[in-house]
Amino acid sequence: MAEYRWNQHETAAGYDAAAPLVHPRYVEVQDAVMAAVPANPALIVDAGGGSGRLLERCLERWPAVHAVLIDQSAPFLDLARRRLERFAGRVAFHQRQLQDDWRSVLTATPTAVVSTSAVHHLEPPEKRAFYSRCQSVLAPGGALINGDEVRDPDDSVYRKTLEWWAGRMQVMETDGSVSAPMADALAKWRHRNVERFGEPRVSGDDCHETAEVQLDYFRSIGLVNVRIGWESELWAVMIGEQPA
Ligand SMILES: C[S@@+](CC[C@H](N)C(=O)[O-])C[C@H]1O[C@@H](n2cnc3c(N)ncnc32)[C@H](O)[C@@H]1O
Repeated sequence: MAEYRWNQHETAAGYDAAAPLVHPRYVEVQDAVMAAVPANPALIVDAGGGSGRLLERCLERWPAVHAVLIDQSAPFLDLARRRLERFAGRVAFHQRQLQDDWRSVLTATPTAVVSTSAVHHLEPPEKRAFYSRCQSVLAPGGALINGDEVRDPDDSVYRKTLEWWAGRMQVMETDGSVSAPMADALAKWRHRNVERFGEPRVSGDDCHETAEVQLDYFRSIGLVNVRIGWESELWAVMIGEQPA
């Protein structure tokens, strides 16, 4: 069986280098996630934190905050360790699947569990279980904030959005703006999501759900002030808070 795409060193490095180019709303999503973090955070957990780009901004913005980065990919964790070296003592790294019970790695109570572009890889029951674990560890008044790929409820709108992004990817695959392994990953994304539109998705694929469905998951596990903080095209920042 082919190795999971995010576990290949070259793909991880290619994503790290090109993320703000490939993901047209990369920085806006990060801005909206950070805007939803409660004031004076003590601990931020980044679930599926990849190469540490979001935590780098958090550690810079809040000089007293500590952070935990959880990711299933050794290559991404290596990149994150390098990026966040200067914050040694304030950040811990753990190789875990979001489907695992990762709560035992925490040595303090998180003010926020954040995530970007990772949770959509989980199937619906896995997402619900993951959100529930987040809720169970959050401090009173803490926030679960997921800035992720979501689908429109209307199939034709969803498909058009995928085609729009795929069109941008196709240009990048040939114009030299991304590495060869990343170009290959983009071509595979187009194949899975556009050419095979509507086919069943399994865990690890892009298991897009609507933002509203996911906000219902948030409500069902007891989070309050549940809302969409920002949204555009295929992306939304979904927020829920632990009661104070
Ligand atoms: C598209 S990258 C996004 C990385 C980072 N959050 C960012 O925004 O730059 C997806 C990340 O999610 C991680 N990931 C995907 N599925 C995962 C899972 N089931 N458990 C843990 N991490 C996962 C991948 O290893 C990868 O680091």
